[in-house]
Amino acid sequence: MIEDFLQSSTSVSLFGVVVGLLVVYLLLSSFSSQERREPPGPRPLPLLGNLLQVDLKRLDQSLVDLSKKYGPVFQVYFGTKKVVVLAGYRTVKQALVNHADEFGNREVSPIFYDFNKEHGILFSNGESWKEMRRFALTTLKDFGMGKKISEEKILEESHYLIKEFEQFEGKPFNNTQAINYAASNVISALMFGKRFEYKDPVFQAMVERDNETIHLTGSVSILIYNFFPWLGPCLKNWRVVMKNIEAGKEDTRKIIADLKETLDPNMCRCYIDAFLIRKQTLEESDIKNSHYHDDNLVYSVTNLFAAGTDTTGTTLKWCLLYMAKYPHIQDRVVEELSRVVGSRQVRIEDRRNLPFTDAVIHESQRLANIVPMAIPHTTSKDVTFQGYFIKEGTTVFPLLTSVLYDEGEWESPRTFNPCHFLDNDGKCIKRDAFMPFSAGRRVCLGEGLARMELFLFFTSLLQHFRFTPPPGVSEDELDLTPVVGFILSPLPQMLCAIRRQ
Ligand code: HEM
Repeated sequence: MIEDFLQSSTSVSLFGVVVGLLVVYLLLSSFSSQERREPPGPRPLPLLGNLLQVDLKRLDQSLVDLSKKYGPVFQVYFGTKKVVVLAGYRTVKQALVNHADEFGNREVSPIFYDFNKEHGILFSNGESWKEMRRFALTTLKDFGMGKKISEEKILEESHYLIKEFEQFEGKPFNNTQAINYAASNVISALMFGKRFEYKDPVFQAMVERDNETIHLTGSVSILIYNFFPWLGPCLKNWRVVMKNIEAGKEDTRKIIADLKETLDPNMCRCYIDAFLIRKQTLEESDIKNSHYHDDNLVYSVTNLFAAGTDTTGTTLKWCLLYMAKYPHIQDRVVEELSRVVGSRQVRIEDRRNLPFTDAVIHESQRLANIVPMAIPHTTSKDVTFQGYFIKEGTTVFPLLTSVLYDEGEWESPRTFNPCHFLDNDGKCIKRDAFMPFSAGRRVCLGEGLARMELFLFFTSLLQHFRFTPPPGVSEDELDLTPVVGFILSPLPQMLCAIRRQ
């Protein structure tokens, strides 16, 4: 009896305490957000935040839906972590470009910390990031990024890619690997001073590991890990990612060691050489605490290799899928190519005379929307933005989906329509809301190279092949649903590459 009484009175008083705490929590949270005019957003539950109101499997889309209710600047809680979401072209541009400093820091979430320990370019901040980004930009330009030399490299690589496709003799195949290898070889030539054979097992492992890591980074379990990092060792995806990171570092260290052995300061062969020479010069002049240390070298190289492979490769896969899906558009591209260029090799200077082709590549990038939430940022200081107070260090998602599909900017946001990039005279035009590379301080560092690759690979492939669904599959049956990961890639599906003539 006494036990029963004690038990029921304990649970009643416990219940009272929980309700009391909840009321205080709700009062405090509504008071503080009124006081500092925080962005609006769905009311969070203790501990879970808004996790039950978003679809983690298609987070970008679910945040676009919330922006319809809460406006272009709103906040959501993932567990106890607050994230401010920026939606729509005007807002994203205003934040990333007009308030570039305030919105220009990188969020180093637990998984990004595991990746690079705040070194390198992608997941670092402050002076180290500034120096590494500047060095990467100038060095890649010195080695021809966006210039004639990289044009030659891409054209050489497109011949290997064409040969690879020819081996299938028009039969259906999955083009993912070959395309990733080609994109990877362009960045490898700049980073390591050499390309790899597609059959090289070390190269294959490097590309495949990155591909898997990028995919898993966007998985629900890694999203959960970011909010509850103590869960890490219990999550299979986290363990796979950690293994991949270690193996990637090991391979990169081996390549660096080989280049170091034959390093000649008078003959700089690649990015790694340039870094080693700079490091040596600084050490000789007795400069202490320079940012040119081994960790920054390894992580900058792995960053550029990963960022330069999957993104460009995935975009090219989308381009070919759209061509197979919309054969009348493919026909117009091919007609323009043969009228303007004929059977000779396409060069980068042909781009201005190929407006329809150029518009098709832009439209493919827009609709494919491969990096839907950019890479998360944080605020570098307290900022009042569109009347809302956002505290220093707050995580910010620039929702690129909401820019590339902004209903106020695009005539038919959800359909493949190259006319988005054509004026009445058929010239290819720039559109402000075309932001697949993001904008501002953290804008993609490889934009120039990626655009050159997309143009040259795409046109070379279309000169040689007609892309179609496999026999017995209609264009309508080609599936445009993306596989959700950190980047959005097409579902693995077969296409035919049928030799022209
Ligand atoms: C179609 C291809 C590509 C797309 C769509 C793309 C897109 C992006 C996006 C959206 C970001 C995040 C920007 C932000 O945080 O606001 C980014 C960052 C970055 N990209 Fe790319 N990218 C592509 C190709 C490349 C290539 C070829 C390279 C290497 C040469 C590269 C290197 C980087 C690096 C290093 C960053 C981090 C910049 C920083 O944090 O300062 N990307 N990219």
